[in-house]
Amino acid sequence: MDFHDMKALLEWQVEMGATEAIGETPVNRYDVPGEAPKPKAAALAAAPASAAQDGPDPVETARRMAAGATDLEALRAAVAAFDLCDLKRGARNTVFADGNPHARVMVIGEAPGRDEDIAGLPFVGRAGRLLDRMFAAIGLSRGGEGAEALYITNIMPWRPPQNREPAPVEIAMMLPFVERHVALAAPEVIVLMGNTACQGMLGRKGITRLRGTWTEAAGHPAMPMFHPAYLLRNPAAKREAWADLLEIRARLAEGAE
Ligand code: URA
Repeated sequence: MDFHDMKALLEWQVEMGATEAIGETPVNRYDVPGEAPKPKAAALAAAPASAAQDGPDPVETARRMAAGATDLEALRAAVAAFDLCDLKRGARNTVFADGNPHARVMVIGEAPGRDEDIAGLPFVGRAGRLLDRMFAAIGLSRGGEGAEALYITNIMPWRPPQNREPAPVEIAMMLPFVERHVALAAPEVIVLMGNTACQGMLGRKGITRLRGTWTEAAGHPAMPMFHPAYLLRNPAAKREAWADLLEIRARLAEGAE
């Protein structure tokens, strides 16, 4: 095979969606024993969560595993041990959380991207750097202690292929873990970053309408905000994001009185 054949082959792979090298040596997936056949994406999306696959009900299993976790380390282990979400197979790392779990504010984002998948931590790429700057502007950070602390997680702990949005059936099966995460961290305030977080925690989307108004998620006051990735694409919306951050700061100040 000459250079041009190899280049054409690579371009074909990129067109088919294989945009990233995930190992040094190629693996023939047809020869790997014991891998369950993957359900078709369309069938998964159409099916109720409980009918997504034969065998154990993913939502029930997640509920049982989440309920059995009595602290955050046990919950981290339970999430990492959950094998019923297909996204786990394509991910390098389980991305659980970052920051200070005793923080008054808990941010819930969507799902890891490439950088987060590699680092095993949420929001470390470009959007994550903006998120850090946004919260620094109201005195909060992942390295902070006490009133300056921030805790960050995602609805989905595994990177979806091509950074697609997590499907409703995938969100549904991870939700018991996120709800348990909130219960164990017990923040005063939750920040829902973007539509996927709203879909998971509120059961509805429409961030343009939802943002800026306090609501309730998992029994806690929650503020929906534009996702920092959206703000990178639409810098004009930073004005609204700033208003939402000030609203969060005011609420924290009230709670501290
Ligand atoms: N976007 C998210 O929602 N979460 C991350 O961790 C990174 C990017």
